[in-house]
Amino acid sequence: MFPTPSLLHFTRDDYSRIYEPDADSFLLLDALESKFKKIQERNPFIILEFGSGSGIATTFVAKHFCQSPSLFFAIDMNPHACYSTKRTFQHNHVDDKQCLNLVQCNLADPLIDRLTAKVDLLLFNPPYVPTETANVEEMIDRTFAGGEQGTEVIQRSIEQASRLLSPKGLFYMVALEENDFDMLSELSDQYGLNAEIVLKRRTLIERLLIDIYCTEQTMPKSKERLEDSDSEESKSSNNDNKSTSDEEPSKKSKGKKSNGENEPPAKRAKPNEEDTTVPSTTGPNGERLYEIGKLRFVSVSQFRGKPYVNIREYYDDNGIRKPGRKGISLAGDQWEKFKELFDQIDKELKASK
Ligand SMILES: C[S@@+](CC[C@H](N)C(=O)[O-])C[C@H]1O[C@@H](n2cnc3c(N)ncnc32)[C@H](O)[C@@H]1O
Repeated sequence: MFPTPSLLHFTRDDYSRIYEPDADSFLLLDALESKFKKIQERNPFIILEFGSGSGIATTFVAKHFCQSPSLFFAIDMNPHACYSTKRTFQHNHVDDKQCLNLVQCNLADPLIDRLTAKVDLLLFNPPYVPTETANVEEMIDRTFAGGEQGTEVIQRSIEQASRLLSPKGLFYMVALEENDFDMLSELSDQYGLNAEIVLKRRTLIERLLIDIYCTEQTMPKSKERLEDSDSEESKSSNNDNKSTSDEEPSKKSKGKKSNGENEPPAKRAKPNEEDTTVPSTTGPNGERLYEIGKLRFVSVSQFRGKPYVNIREYYDDNGIRKPGRKGISLAGDQWEKFKELFDQIDKELKASK
């Protein structure tokens, strides 16, 4: 058993400002240890922890899992937590071997673009207690306030994981039984990730340790990639017309807040250079946009090596046309099915006129 990092440098006063490691923190350490071989085999280079708190998990990984120097990102909204993580790193003498970046921010918001598909190991012992909102004023309350169903922050972290994880990336996250694993698993699936429970531990409450991962073979496992945006433009356009929206809000994505601009840029699918007969404009990623209505376009893009047909509403951001929240991205097999149904749907449409 790997020794737990020493936290003897903390006083009671420190624990009035940061989360004092508890059963959930130790569950995360145990899960990591149980997956030691799997993690080491992948030789993680970039390791990121959401909500590092005292720094116990980041330091644990730095001390025992890295054969060579690695790059750590310890993120917390709480400035005391960032400072505490640094202290724990130093107190356990890992700062001379490993590089630690402390970032005080909301999940990985400012890092997403730079770290897209680069994170090999992601950790999170999130605020998972069901509360009215996760957006609480006191920093110390952020340690537990999980919002509706306790999953507001969790859902955003899964969405970010789908962008951050490298093809060999692993994500270990603590959750509660009442956070509804099936819903989290489906959400992960929608983002092209697999989720499974690797450890369950009963204390006064049942805690779960979820392993979320992606592989080149399975990603994106889901056929449909959800895209949404919090932009004012797309919010207002959502009210215009409900007919083409896939913004379900189903149970799965409820509470999920994302910023479409942080989506990994959809790569341009090679357009057919010969075909210039169909009028089109060029999208923000160089893709061809075929207009089907006011600010509604069809395009072909690639996401992690797979082509998608997008039918989406765009909005104008200071002269730049950007994809909005309303729309759908169909993977190849869905597109084929759609084509098969085309005549039937067309018939029904004509009959209903
Ligand atoms: C339950 S504590 C876990 C602390 C530590 N990782 C552990 O296992 O002991 C959750 C941590 O997440 C931080 N946190 C909560 N919401 C966050 C967010 N949206 N972005 C970054 N950090 C957040 C809190 O400040 C807190 O330090």
